[in-house]
Amino acid sequence: MLKVLPMILVSVFLISCAGTQTIPEPKSPGARLYQERCTKCHGLPGVTRHTPEQWDQLLVMMDDFMQEKNIAFPDQEKELIRNYLHRNAK
Ligand code: HEC
Repeated sequence: MLKVLPMILVSVFLISCAGTQTIPEPKSPGARLYQERCTKCHGLPGVTRHTPEQWDQLLVMMDDFMQEKNIAFPDQEKELIRNYLHRNAK
């Protein structure tokens, strides 16, 4: 019985990460676009985990990944997401 406990704790931890993640200004257009466009290949990355400079590099990288997969990522959307990330970055 005691051996099950750590597994339960790990599951609870994972669920709480996946399910209730809150992001800054959730109702803004930038945040909505971010949630829609940046969860296609992985989970939602934490907005405050990176500095503005890191976000710029990451966006270039993600742009490449999207091109490889033929996912359109218009400059307009990139700009919105970039501004959103910069406003809320580390
Ligand atoms: C076409 C698929 C794809 C899309 C869409 C995508 N990513 Fe990624 N992303 C990846 C891949 C693949 C990796 C892993 C790269 C690696 O670790 O070398 C990654 C990794 C990341 C990481 C690094 C994770 C970490 O822990 O540091 C961040 C941050 C990130 N992506 C942000 C974004 C953002 C922001 C967007 C939306 C603009 C986005 N991604 C959209 C494919 C994608």
